[in-house]
Amino acid sequence: MKIIVTGGAGFIGGNFVYYQLKNHPQDEVICIDKLTYAGNLETLEEAMKNPNFTFIRADIVDREAIYAIFEQHHPDVVVNFAAESHVDRSITDPAIFLQTNILGTQVMMDACRKYGITRYHQVSTDEVYGDLPLDRPDLFFTETTPLHTSSPYSASKASADLLVQAYHRTFGLPVTISRCSNNYGPYHFPEKLIPLMIANALADKELPVYGSGENVRDWLYVEDHCSAIDLIIRKGRVGEVYNIGGHNERTNLQVVETILRELGKPESLIKHVKDRAGHDMRYAIDPTKIHNELGWLPSTSFDVGIKKTIDWYLSNKPWWEKIISGEYEQYYEKMYANR
Ligand code: NAD
Ligand code: TYD
Repeated sequence: MKIIVTGGAGFIGGNFVYYQLKNHPQDEVICIDKLTYAGNLETLEEAMKNPNFTFIRADIVDREAIYAIFEQHHPDVVVNFAAESHVDRSITDPAIFLQTNILGTQVMMDACRKYGITRYHQVSTDEVYGDLPLDRPDLFFTETTPLHTSSPYSASKASADLLVQAYHRTFGLPVTISRCSNNYGPYHFPEKLIPLMIANALADKELPVYGSGENVRDWLYVEDHCSAIDLIIRKGRVGEVYNIGGHNERTNLQVVETILRELGKPESLIKHVKDRAGHDMRYAIDPTKIHNELGWLPSTSFDVGIKKTIDWYLSNKPWWEKIISGEYEQYYEKMYANR
């Protein structure tokens, strides 16, 4: 099988490349990535040594380039991870989110229609369901929860989901969609909550918690997300949506306090800063469908996964120190200076 993985130089796509090469060594993996600020070829350094892996720098919005890749490589399966993924950036500059997340999805699916594939898989997010109130811990997102978005990021992801479903219904494209909760683990770009807090705590810098810090996210270790997508593309039913999550809900404050405790740093480093505009209160996935249909269960609890993640950041300082000392430094200044 030949799999195209878009966005493979990013966090989850990179982990998925390694998951495929390890668990399906007979398959070929072709990674397409534009290498935006979030794409990092160092993440794929080991994969580059594998003869079954090919990296191609291309923009998924660039129809000509994408068609040329399909003509040359004849993929069987496409897994579309490529996206602008950071909510805060979508608040300051929404346009690129619409381009990559919606139009890029369209171009990838048009290529699939033109050249023929056995499966197009769209990597979506639980953020398409909007948020749940904090005082209703009995509520969870199911696959039939209405789409109800809050940020330009989640609106762009929901738009792409609708387009994917339309391509299935109208053109019969064999699609699946997964909607996963917040991931964490190795190669997570340090603008996101967990790696940012690890990096700041190690540097004895303030930990900027938005608003009260009571917002809840449902954390999933990235390898569990990869195993779920792998099952869906091989055994999932065409046309279906699958939620992915492992009932690991934590408030942001709990996450930050855990990181400080693990690193032996004081809670006085926590600084409550101005809240994110439109900040979603709680995300919580009901993963019954993927469990019942495909037998998927997460294998790493938050308590274990956060320790593994912190260990990874401690053992791989060159990977993230290079990022936070480059162009990203200016982003950090802009985002947090007057917060
Ligand atoms: P990321 O920002 O770490 O990586 C995105 C990758 O896509 C980067 O390598 C970037 O260079 C590439 N890319 C961006 N625009 C591109 C374009 N136009 N053409 C080709 N490549 C492009 O993102 P992530 O956290 O790994 O998320 C991957 C996917 O998973 C996204 O679709 C996201 O919506 C979804 N998702 C993420 C989470 C999470 O917690 N991070 C949870 C659920 C779903
Ligand atoms: P993030 O990692 O950006 O993921 P998402 O917004 O997609 O859930 O943020 C996770 C939570 O952490 C979210 O409620 C916002 C909050 N947060 C902070 O409190 N401070 C920060 O510096 C960042 C980046 C996020």
